[in-house]
Amino acid sequence: MDKFIIYGGNRLKGQVTISGSKNAALPVLCSSILSEGVCTYTNVPDLDDIDTICRVLGHLGVTSQKPAPNTVVLDPTGITSHEAHYDLVKKMRASILVLGPLLARYGRAKVSLPGGCAIGVRPIDMHLKAFAKMGAEIDLSHGYVVASADRLKGTRIVFDNTTVGGTENVMMAASLADGTTVIEGAAKEPEVVDLAGVLNAMGARIEGAGESTVVIEGVKTLSGVRYEVIPDRIETGTFLVAAGITKGRLSIARGRADHVTAVIDKLMGMGLQISEGQSGTIEVNGDCDLRAVNVETVPHPGFPTDMQAQIMALACVADGVTSITENIFENRFMHVPELMRMGANLEEKGRTVIVRGIERFQGASVMATDLRASASLVLAALNAIGYTEIRRIYHLDRGYDALDKKLMALGADVSREKGGL
Ligand code: EPU
Repeated sequence: MDKFIIYGGNRLKGQVTISGSKNAALPVLCSSILSEGVCTYTNVPDLDDIDTICRVLGHLGVTSQKPAPNTVVLDPTGITSHEAHYDLVKKMRASILVLGPLLARYGRAKVSLPGGCAIGVRPIDMHLKAFAKMGAEIDLSHGYVVASADRLKGTRIVFDNTTVGGTENVMMAASLADGTTVIEGAAKEPEVVDLAGVLNAMGARIEGAGESTVVIEGVKTLSGVRYEVIPDRIETGTFLVAAGITKGRLSIARGRADHVTAVIDKLMGMGLQISEGQSGTIEVNGDCDLRAVNVETVPHPGFPTDMQAQIMALACVADGVTSITENIFENRFMHVPELMRMGANLEEKGRTVIVRGIERFQGASVMATDLRASASLVLAALNAIGYTEIRRIYHLDRGYDALDKKLMALGADVSREKGGL
């Protein structure tokens, strides 16, 4: 397993280009199942999770090609299987996003239940209830969801809690359902809006994506498409924090400031200067005295759970006491003990962590536990006195496109060591 060795203390400087969004690309690639023709996607990040979803789709009979960097061409015309096997779904729970499209297009699907994951239990009950309401028969058998329906029917779906994946799965299924589906309590994340964008470009009729009520009028067929995936807002946020934690100055190209307003607000509250630059860049100056600002994660447009670990790293070296509350996942503080090994003063109280500011982190040997927790360790290491060894960085490779190379180009002292524990 690869590890990162990081010597901290270098101020990051220069321009970084944000890659395509992992969490937008995953459902967008799954939506190809609904198509009658070839689909070409651009700005797809080069990540292990993207390879995994291509493998899931490959097992169904979707052929994939990468004719150019960050371009994926999917041909779903040869789909013969409707099953997503445990071996792949356990690797990446977003594989559940093939369920809605398979059910809508082929009337049946057998998809492994994802099981728990490092950040929480993460059930899929809301997806399944919605499909049942649309007329599907759902059985849970031997660890699999087995679903069937002659043709899904449009209906009113009410999500009592926000679910990004549930909203996406239903939006895809409803696009080929009979009649109109109304989703109330829909997730408003930019990735949901992006998925509606690609579906509409394929011929779907979706209105209201990005708002709490989404209306989908089912159509008979959807065509092939060429579509560009949105930039990754969590990568954008991570580089904003990287500027703050190294007192650096970055120009962030291809990041969408309007997708990270809650993050920008908090970081400016902590003292960072952030502005829009020429040709749409985000300019950030992190050379400031950091101060404490309380953070609570909430669904979009609020502060994202996927930035909680990273802002905690920054809060660790801010002046004062910060309280960080995680409301989306029940077990998303795996970075806390690792950050404490690097000298952070943290106290976990249920869903809240109290952060008391320290001067600087100290380099140590730490272990990456999940994707965003790993990012927080990298950020802490960039700030730390001495060197930090971060093991199991395969978590990072799942979700950050060439993070080590991008950081090195900005002046960080990062190297990747192959193999080992
Ligand atoms: N939930 C249920 N039942 C359901 C669905 C969700 O109880 O049927 C719960 C979950 O357990 C969780 C909460 O609802 O506590 C939110 O889950 P949601 O369905 O919104 O999350 P997701 O679709 O599984 C996506 C992202 C996550 C991101 C969350 C929240 C993808 C592939 N994943 O997950 O990204 O944290 O939305 O914004 O889009 C990451 O990138 O590191 C990551 C974990």
